[in-house]
Amino acid sequence: MGNVGCPLNELLLNELRFWLRIMKEHALFIRLGLPCNETRLIQMAQDFESRFAELEEKSKAVSPGRGLDQLANDSLKAVLEFIQYKTLVLDRIIECRMGGANYPLLIDHIRREAIRFAINIIRFRRGELMTPTEELIQDEVFWLRIMADHAKFIAHLLDPSERKFVCQAEMFSDTFDNLRCQSEDFESMLEITPRPIPSLLRFTAEVKEAGTEIRNFKAAATQLLTNCKILSLIPPLLADHVRREAEKFLMDLDRDLRMLKQMPAPSAPPCATSPPVLENTGDVSQEESLKKSDNTGLHEKEQGTETLSPTDAEQTTESFAETGGSKTFAESSAEISETVAEKLKEDFAAPLQPIYRPKKTFFTGNTTQVKINFK
Ligand SMILES: [Fe+2]
Repeated sequence: MGNVGCPLNELLLNELRFWLRIMKEHALFIRLGLPCNETRLIQMAQDFESRFAELEEKSKAVSPGRGLDQLANDSLKAVLEFIQYKTLVLDRIIECRMGGANYPLLIDHIRREAIRFAINIIRFRRGELMTPTEELIQDEVFWLRIMADHAKFIAHLLDPSERKFVCQAEMFSDTFDNLRCQSEDFESMLEITPRPIPSLLRFTAEVKEAGTEIRNFKAAATQLLTNCKILSLIPPLLADHVRREAEKFLMDLDRDLRMLKQMPAPSAPPCATSPPVLENTGDVSQEESLKKSDNTGLHEKEQGTETLSPTDAEQTTESFAETGGSKTFAESSAEISETVAEKLKEDFAAPLQPIYRPKKTFFTGNTTQVKINFK
């Protein structure tokens, strides 16, 4: 690599600076929650903490043109080992072979974060960006679950007497659980061809609003904890840690939306975009040919990115409904199928890009050595 002006290198450096600190703190949080007789695991956590602290210091000194490749390699090696360590700890906890004060969901949560960090190092180094819409959806699916987890940790670590704050945290938990489910629905629906449909953009605005609210809640909680004005088991560093993650969540969303805006405008459709005015001449064949062009026009609307707005979506629905009157669905379908097939061939002349979705198949165990080969 070593391409100084490459925006991917900027992205990579930002990721390293953010997540190396987070990984260092994860090592500390795990260590504090381990049972005191687990001396080997405690020592390993301590070693990871020192290792990530060193890498974090280095990340402050490197620039995209100087030392970034080496730092990325060293960080990836460290985080892959850390994933294996977290896997081991989680495995022992959920098999009830180890006690301590680490919630299983906390270890699962920080393991997911480490996997995301590793994946981002790999794909930014390989230059594997998804389409802007996929980046947006994947970020929402990932971060909404993280935010929902944070709300649950806060609710369960506050002193039970702090009823108002517990209630607020539980409300955030419900909000983000629901938003997460909806983001997974979008992920599923837009698997056919990811594109920024108006409802996804409206949903993203809601996500940003909820993200800002939980960020402010965490910032207020951090202040209260620092000033000893709230009863809880939450160390102020943990509160600040989750606040920084909320900031990162909002920054990632803003970056995704910026990239969406920079998408090239779709090529002009071959048919007229505004429906031609139908003169009432009594000529049935003219009417039917217009119906055909309306139906094929629906597909072109779907491909658009720049012109999508709620109004467009409404118009599309209306024009589709208008065309369905005089013929059965089967008749209309048979008539237009040839035209649509031709249109589909044109639109998808180039194969659809495979979706980069390693989250469910990546790093599954703690015994296999993971080898990464940059090509
Ligand atoms: Fe987190």
